[in-house]
Amino acid sequence: MLKKILPVAVSAVAVAALAACGSSSGAAAGASGAGAGGGDKIVMGFAQVGAESGWRTANTKNVQESAKTAGIELKFSDAQQKQENQIKAIRSYIQQKVDVIAFSPVVETGWDTVLLEAKRANIPVILTDRAVDSEDKTLYKTFLGSDFVAEGKKAGEWLVKDSEGKSEVNVVELQGTTGAAPAIDRKEGFADAIKAAPQIKVIASQTGDFTRSGGKQVMEAFLKSNPKIDVVYAHNDDMGLGAIEAIEAAGKVPGKDIKIITVDAVHDGMQALADGKINYIVECSPLLGDQLMDLAKKVVAGESVPERVVTEETTFTQEQAKTALPSRKY
Ligand code: AHR
Repeated sequence: MLKKILPVAVSAVAVAALAACGSSSGAAAGASGAGAGGGDKIVMGFAQVGAESGWRTANTKNVQESAKTAGIELKFSDAQQKQENQIKAIRSYIQQKVDVIAFSPVVETGWDTVLLEAKRANIPVILTDRAVDSEDKTLYKTFLGSDFVAEGKKAGEWLVKDSEGKSEVNVVELQGTTGAAPAIDRKEGFADAIKAAPQIKVIASQTGDFTRSGGKQVMEAFLKSNPKIDVVYAHNDDMGLGAIEAIEAAGKVPGKDIKIITVDAVHDGMQALADGKINYIVECSPLLGDQLMDLAKKVVAGESVPERVVTEETTFTQEQAKTALPSRKY
C-alpha cells in the first residue's frame, strides 16, 4: 500500500479471505497481501458483480491480467450478484486502507452511504462497467464503461430496418438483472429506437438475470404463453444462448423461425451468430482492465481524470461474425 500503515482490526470476513490469497468470493474482500502493509505498490480493491455471464468472466480475467501488467496489487472479491456482498467488500477495502477502490455496481441505487464512507476515508473510487444513480458526483472520481442506452438503440435500429415491409413483428425481451444499469438502459435505448416502426411490439418482457439458465427458463415460459413470437431481444449473449436452447426444445429454428438480437459479442455468442442461430449482436467490450489501471494510477497520484470514459464498441452481422471470430480476444 502506498505510504500507508495498516493498523486495522481486520474483520472475520477479511481474515477468511486472507486464506484465499487475495482472491475471494461472496462478501469477502481479499485481505492484506504483500503490499498492503507498506510497500510502494498501488493497492486496488476490486468488488466484482459475480460470474453470471461469459462477459463477466472475460472482464474479471482482463482486470486481473491488466493489474499484473501495471504492477498494481489487486484485492478481488466476487459479490455473487448481491449488493450487500459488494457493500461488505467495499467496507472491508476501506478498513484495509487500500489506495483505490474500483467496482462494477450490481444495481444502480443504494450506494451513497458506502461511497461517502470511502470519501471520508480519502480513498478514491472508480466505477467500472456499470453506473450508480448518486446525485453527488464527488462520491466517485470517474466512470469507465459502455454507453448502454446506445447499445439498446443499435439493437432497436437493426430491428427497425429488418422489419421494413412487415405488418406485425412481435418481440419478447429478456432483461438483465432488475435494477442494473445495463438492464435499465438497454431497455430504454431499444424502446426508443423501435418507436420508428409501430408494427414492432414488445409483447412480453422479463428478467433472466443475465444468465444462460435464466434466459432459457424465461424463454420457455414466453413460448408457452405467446403463440406468435417473431423476435427475441436479449440484453446479453448468455440469455440469448439460453433462449436458443428453449426455442430448439420447442421444435423451432432459432435465427429463422424466431430471430434473435443480443448484446456483448463474447465468443459463444459470436459462434452462434456465425452459425446463423443469432441474427445480430451489439458489442459490449469487457476489456476495461488497461484503462482502469491507467485511471487508477492517475487518481492515486491526485491527477485529474475525465468524469466519464466511454468504451468504443461496434456491432456484428452473421457475415461479420464469421470474419471476426478467429481474432476475438474473448
Ligand atoms: O454490465 C455488463 C453486463 O453484465 C454484460 O452485458 C452482461 O453480460 C453482464 O452480466
